[in-house]
Amino acid sequence: MYNSKIIGVGHYVPDNIVTNDDLAKIIDTNDEWIQERTGIKERRWAKEEDKETTFTMGLEAAKRAIKNSGLDKDDIDFIIFATLSPDYYFPGPGVQIQEALDIGTVGALDVRNQCSGFVYAVSVADQFIKTGMYKNILVIGSELQSHGIDKTTRGRNISVIFGDGAGAVVLSREEDLSKGILSTHLHSEGKHALELATEAPGMGTRWVTDIIEENNPDDLSYFPYMNGQFVFKHAVARFSEVIIEGLVKNNLPKEAIDLLIPHQANLRISQFIQKKFGLSDDQVFNNIQKYGNTTAASIPIALSEAWEEGRIKDGDVVVLAAFGSGFTWGSVIIKW
Ligand code: UT7
Repeated sequence: MYNSKIIGVGHYVPDNIVTNDDLAKIIDTNDEWIQERTGIKERRWAKEEDKETTFTMGLEAAKRAIKNSGLDKDDIDFIIFATLSPDYYFPGPGVQIQEALDIGTVGALDVRNQCSGFVYAVSVADQFIKTGMYKNILVIGSELQSHGIDKTTRGRNISVIFGDGAGAVVLSREEDLSKGILSTHLHSEGKHALELATEAPGMGTRWVTDIIEENNPDDLSYFPYMNGQFVFKHAVARFSEVIIEGLVKNNLPKEAIDLLIPHQANLRISQFIQKKFGLSDDQVFNNIQKYGNTTAASIPIALSEAWEEGRIKDGDVVVLAAFGSGFTWGSVIIKW
């Protein structure tokens, strides 16, 4: 048995900054509402002419993570790519990364767990490394949300929240079992699947041809839908539960947390968790103010920024936690 350890982190966000005031020009919204309800000041939305996609952003983040890891691209044994906004309906972007990095025929797995995607992906990578099957795994979370949201007043509870970006990590074999990823916990509750979802196109519901045929301007099924307050209530409860589950598993008191990196869904959710666990501002990392909610990319972008800012030191207990569509949620406890 081995442990897995994060040995390289990297992130990439598009240059184009969209402020709340920019949104107020196209949507009936305002800076005060957005900041008060979500904490978001601005987000990145890739410009159409820059031709950035979930794959291209993920690739850039991956290159940076590999460089920081000190490994060569050819040392990567396996790729895991988490996203809800793939370039193609299928195949997923994992294989695009394999091709672009030119790393032989290593396996590429795509994870579809939305906001929990990165936590799920890290958990899968951890299991592969623990059993000795792979030594170095590239895990990417990347999202291009801006092309798929309803940027009108009708969709304002979603469109002001979501942003584009990518983050990546390299996980590697660690022989010292007191270091690296100490545990991961994953959960789901599918009865709430449609409380936060994009329903169409789906083979089981309505395919693209049906949508075109119906030509219904009031059809919103291909835009994300979120029952905001319902999701919020579940999020705060599940975040707390799954962090406690991880701490208990490792006999760690909540005071042992050096840095909590929650999925960046809403600053109010992070602040609720911070208060509940009695953590100081230094013990919680938030960057939703700059990027909005980048779903599967939010934790790896935050992890990469926290690392760049020197907020993570050797031996620190770092906790990752996520909640989102599915519902799915999970946590990762790391001894850095
Ligand atoms: O990442 C996955 C997990 N996601 C989450 O955890 C998100 C959880 N939910 C939330 O973060 C919050 O529910 C939102 C930020 C989405 C919404 O905040 P809220 O405080 O729950 O607002 P609400 O949906 O209850 O809407 C309150 C009012 C409504 O107007 P009325 O009916 O009171 O007149 C909305 O129409 O705010 C209105 N509203 C807006 N006003 C200005 C909704 N969106 C906007 C907007 N600008 N962008």
